[in-house]
Amino acid sequence: MSQTLFFFIALGTVFQLSCGTQVNVTKDDKLCLFANLMLHFSVSYEVTGNKSQTATFELPENVTADGSTCDATKSTLKLSFGDGHSLSVDFTASGDSYRADLITFIYNLNDTTLFNNSVSEDAVTVKAEPQFTNVTMDTCYSCHSEDTIQVDSVNMTMWNVLIQAFVSNGSKSEQMTSCAADTPTPTPTPAGNATTTAPVTNMTSTAPPPPPTTTPTPPLPTPTTGNYSVKATNQSACLLANFGLRIGYKQGSKYEELNFEPNGTQVTGLCGVNSSELTLESGPVTLVFTFTNDTKKFRLHALNVTVKTSSGSVFFESNSSLSLWEASIGSSYMCKKEQNVTITEELELLTFNVRVQPFAVKKGLFSTAEDCQADGESFLVPIAVGVALLVLILIVLLAYFIGRKRNMATGYESFA
Ligand SMILES: *[C@@H]1O[C@H](CO)[C@@H](O)[C@H](O)[C@H]1NC(C)=O
Ligand SMILES: *[C@@H]1O[C@H](CO)[C@@H](O)[C@H](O)[C@H]1NC(C)=O
Ligand SMILES: *[C@@H]1O[C@H](CO)[C@@H](O)[C@H](O)[C@H]1NC(C)=O
Ligand SMILES: *[C@@H]1O[C@H](CO)[C@@H](O)[C@H](O)[C@H]1NC(C)=O
Ligand SMILES: *[C@@H]1O[C@H](CO)[C@@H](O)[C@H](O)[C@H]1NC(C)=O
Ligand SMILES: *[C@@H]1O[C@H](CO)[C@@H](O)[C@H](O)[C@H]1NC(C)=O
Ligand SMILES: *[C@@H]1O[C@H](CO)[C@@H](O)[C@H](O)[C@H]1NC(C)=O
Ligand SMILES: *[C@@H]1O[C@H](CO)[C@@H](O)[C@H](O)[C@H]1NC(C)=O
Ligand SMILES: *[C@@H]1O[C@H](CO)[C@@H](O)[C@H](O)[C@H]1NC(C)=O
Repeated sequence: MSQTLFFFIALGTVFQLSCGTQVNVTKDDKLCLFANLMLHFSVSYEVTGNKSQTATFELPENVTADGSTCDATKSTLKLSFGDGHSLSVDFTASGDSYRADLITFIYNLNDTTLFNNSVSEDAVTVKAEPQFTNVTMDTCYSCHSEDTIQVDSVNMTMWNVLIQAFVSNGSKSEQMTSCAADTPTPTPTPAGNATTTAPVTNMTSTAPPPPPTTTPTPPLPTPTTGNYSVKATNQSACLLANFGLRIGYKQGSKYEELNFEPNGTQVTGLCGVNSSELTLESGPVTLVFTFTNDTKKFRLHALNVTVKTSSGSVFFESNSSLSLWEASIGSSYMCKKEQNVTITEELELLTFNVRVQPFAVKKGLFSTAEDCQADGESFLVPIAVGVALLVLILIVLLAYFIGRKRNMATGYESFA
C-alpha cells in the first residue's frame, strides 16, 4: 500500500534534446532517475495474406515518463510513446552497485501508422534481460556503442546510452561506469592499472557493434580462485568453499566459455543438517550449489547455472543428480588439479583449486582435507603392497628350496 503511494509521488519530466530521448524522473521534487538514450526498434508482424512485414522506428524524443518510480532499491523507468507503446526498464540496487533487471517493451499492433495492415490488433509484450549490470552506485552507466537486444520478433538497438538510477542527492553524477564495448582494449590484459579517471566496472562482453570481425577469441586466463563462505545466524562460517571456475556452455550450435569472476561476488546460502546451499552471483552468472549430507559423506548433489548472455537471452541449466566433490562429513574435499566436469549436455565446468566443506565446519576453518589426488593414487597403494608381498613370498620360497637342497646335500654327506 505504502509502495503504491510512493509510486504516485514519483513524477516524470521529459525534456527534448537534439541528441536522443532525455528523461528526468523526480521524486519529492528531486531528481531520482536520469536517462538519455537513442533507441531503434525493428518489429516484424503479420499482415494479411499470411505474410510478415517489418516496422522500423526510433524511440521518439517526445515520450512521457508517467508510471516511472523511484524507491530505495527498486526503480522503474517507463517511457510511453505514440499510440499505446511503452518501454520499461526495471533497476535494482544491491550493495554498492545497481543493475537493470528487465526491459519490457509493449507495442500496440492497433497503431496503423507504425503497423500498417497488421492482422492482429493486440498489444504485444516482449521482455529481455539487458546487459547492464554491476554499475557502481552513484555513477552513470554510459555506453556509446551499439547494443542490440533480440527477442521474439523484435530487435532493439540502443546507443549513446547514459542512465543513472538511484540518484542520491538530487543531481546526476559526473562519474561514469562504462560498458565493456566502449573500453578500447577489453580482452588482452586483465586491466590492472589502466587509466582510471572514473571507476570502470567490468561489463560482461557485449557483442561488438557493427563490424562483426570474427577474430579468434584469445584463450581465457586461468580463473581466479575465489574464497566464499556462508555464515550461520551466529556469525561463524558454516560452509566454506574455495575454487576457480570456468563455465563452458552451448546455446544452439554456439559454444562459449567464461571465467567466473570472484571479485564482487554476492554470496548467500544456508546450512542445514541434511542439505546446504551456496549461491554465488557475479556479473552475468548465478550459480546455486546444493550439497547433501548422506550421514557419513557429503557431496555436491545439485547445481543450477544461469548466465545472462550478451545477446540478452538467458541460459539456464540444472542437474540435481550429481555426485561430485565427495568426502567424509567432518573433513573437507580438496582438488588442486584442473578438473573438467560435464554437468549437462549444454554445460560443463572447469574447476581449479577446489576446497569445499559444506557441513560440520569448526571455528570457521577447513577440517582435514580428502584430496582427489590421493584418491587417484589410493588404488596404487594396494597394488604396491601386493607386489611387495609377492616378491617377499618368492624370496622366502626360494630361500626354502635352496635351504632344503643344501640340507639334503649335507644329509647325503653325513649318511655317507
Ligand atoms: C533481428 O536481427 C536478426 C539478426 O540481425 C535478423 O535476422 C532479424 O531479421 C531481425 N529481426 C527484425 C524483426 O528486424
Ligand atoms: C500460414 O503459413 C504457415 C507456414 O508459414 C502455415 O502453416 C499456415 O497454414 C498458413 N496459414 C494460412 C491461413 O494460410
Ligand atoms: C576487472 O577484471 C579484471 C580481471 O578480469 C580485474 O583485475 C579487475 O580488478 C576488474 N575490475 C573491476 C572494477 O572489477
Ligand atoms: C554458534 O556456532 C558454534 C559452532 O558453530 C556453536 O558451537 C554454538 O552453539 C553456536 N551458538 C549459538 C548461539 O547458536
Ligand atoms: C576488486 O574490485 C575492486 C573494485 O571493485 C578493486 O578495487 C580491486 O582491486 C579488485 N580486486 C582484484 C583482486 O581484482
Ligand atoms: C548428517 O546427517 C546425519 C543424519 O541425518 C546427522 O546425524 C548429522 O548430524 C548430519 N551432519 C551434519 C554435520 O549436519
Ligand atoms: C535428515 O535426514 C534424516 C534421515 O535421512 C531424517 O530423519 C531427518 O529428519 C532429516 N533432518 C532434517 C532436518 O530434514
Ligand atoms: C534448480 O533448478 C531446478 C529446475 O528448474 C529447480 O527445480 C530447483 O528449485 C532449483 N534449485 C535451486 C536451489 O534453486
Ligand atoms: C572438457 O572435456 C570435453 C570432453 O572430454 C572436451 O570436449 C572439452 O573441450 C573439455 N573442456 C575444456 C574446457 O577443457
